[in-house]
Amino acid sequence: MRFLLGIVVLGLVVLVGALAWAMRYDAIPALAAAPAANTFSRAVLEHGKLMTGMGDCEVCHTRPGGEPFSGGLALPTPFGTIYTTNITPDVATGIGGWSLEAFTRAMREGVDREGQYLYPAFPYIHYTLTTDEDIAAIYAYLMAGVRPVNYQAPETKLPFPFNIRLSLAGWNFLFLKKGPFEPDTTKDEDWNRGAYLVEGLGHCGSCHSPLNIIGGEKGGASKFAGGQAEGWYVPPLNTASLAPIPWSANALVNYLFDGWDKQHGITAGPMTPIIRHLYDQKEDDVYAMAEYLATFQRPVEQAKVDEVIAFARAREWNPDSPPKPTDPALAKGATEFGRLCANCHKINGQPLPLGMTTTINMPDARNVARISIEGIRPPPGSRDRSMPPLTIRDEDLEAILLFMRAQFTTREPWPDLKGDIAAVRAPAAH
Ligand code: HEC
Ligand code: HEC
Ligand code: HEC
Repeated sequence: MRFLLGIVVLGLVVLVGALAWAMRYDAIPALAAAPAANTFSRAVLEHGKLMTGMGDCEVCHTRPGGEPFSGGLALPTPFGTIYTTNITPDVATGIGGWSLEAFTRAMREGVDREGQYLYPAFPYIHYTLTTDEDIAAIYAYLMAGVRPVNYQAPETKLPFPFNIRLSLAGWNFLFLKKGPFEPDTTKDEDWNRGAYLVEGLGHCGSCHSPLNIIGGEKGGASKFAGGQAEGWYVPPLNTASLAPIPWSANALVNYLFDGWDKQHGITAGPMTPIIRHLYDQKEDDVYAMAEYLATFQRPVEQAKVDEVIAFARAREWNPDSPPKPTDPALAKGATEFGRLCANCHKINGQPLPLGMTTTINMPDARNVARISIEGIRPPPGSRDRSMPPLTIRDEDLEAILLFMRAQFTTREPWPDLKGDIAAVRAPAAH
């Protein structure tokens, strides 16, 4: 009896302790007005602008057609729709009343000024690594470099139990490793700078790593093993990379700056705004990111590279003797590809051989299907490489995809082309 009572009491103590721990955040008093612009030096504001770009704050905190940073973008998650907030310096509807202390707490611990837990759709598990100096610079830029906008973003209303924000205390306990970043002394300065940016403000893993069932990023061998974003497949950035030619540091620099590399092709979809912001960054920083990421890649062996290039060239569309597959399913695709795509995608055409691209090697056809329908609007560094949106009937697209996979790779056919096309056509995917 006494033993049982002991267990009950112990249980209660642990419960109350956990609850007290979860509820440990107080409100931080609001400022009457956002700090005046002359509080911050020009150098700090410029640095803050770059770091804000590195964090892609504007990408998530701007709804289509809305003013920059004023929030209201709907982010569909498996737990329901989460709306981004207004982070302009408007006191009533934005973060104008937030002190640097409150802002730092949000970036490091995912807690808002009032002491409420924020959903991890806000990638604070990455931003936590950011140094005090960089957080202060971002704060300065948001307060003094961004125009205040009076706009109340829609309230996020997730279904029970996800509406209980206190439960995020448990999530944070599992997944939040509080920063700032600590350098690995066995590695050089560039590697550490790259790790700081990729793992921190760059939050690359939030798309490029698979998620577990409660939305935490998988680590270990699954780190950078590929994921999903906004209805797009996100390719792996580790030794499981699907790029036919492994990524070297130089190729990564080209891709991260310009969204294009001559051995890998072009960026598309949700990666485009990321590249758009990397384009403005300091060269040293992007080199450091590439150097860090390169340590996750397969080694580049010249003989294999030559093999891939030879294969890809041999399989390109030759207008003088277009491929004539005997399999009727492939023949229809060849005809449609010839009609809709081969004006540009052909031997010595402008786009690089499709057989060299990651996109054609992905486990599903959603990205290729999306690109075929929506075209490509490249970021500034490769502006001349745009592909127009095309009008294609579903059955023609299906035939084209079937043909492309057989023509440009040695992989198995894509397993569910109808499903992939339906997913791309569904309005909810956007
Ligand atoms: C991947 C999308 C995404 C990115 C990128 C992002 N945020 Fe957010 N942010 C969110 C979401 C979603 C919320 C709301 C979370 C909630 O309601 O719990 C949020 C909330 C916030 C809040 C709390 C505001 C409030 O009123 O409660 C701040 C501050 C913030 N973000 C700052 C930033 C900064 C600074 C950056 C760039 C370094 C950034 N965010 C980048 C998605 C994002
Ligand atoms: C919002 C989600 C998202 C974020 C954040 C993101 N990526 Fe991507 N990334 C993608 C998608 C989607 C693609 C595939 C684009 C395509 O189909 O062409 C991609 C492609 C890439 C590729 C090309 C890989 C290949 O084999 O073709 C590289 C390299 C890359 N991303 C690096 C990064 C780095 C570095 C960061 C962080 C600075 C980052 N990404 C952040 C979504 C994201
Ligand atoms: C008007 C010219 C044009 C037409 C027509 C066209 N494309 Fe493209 N496509 C491009 C350009 C330019 C790129 C950018 C890639 C580059 O320059 O390397 C591109 C890129 C792509 C990519 C991404 C490759 C990568 O680098 O990951 C795919 C997939 C693709 N096109 C498929 C198609 C398909 C399928 C069709 C026909 C249904 C088609 N394209 C029609 C010009 C075109």
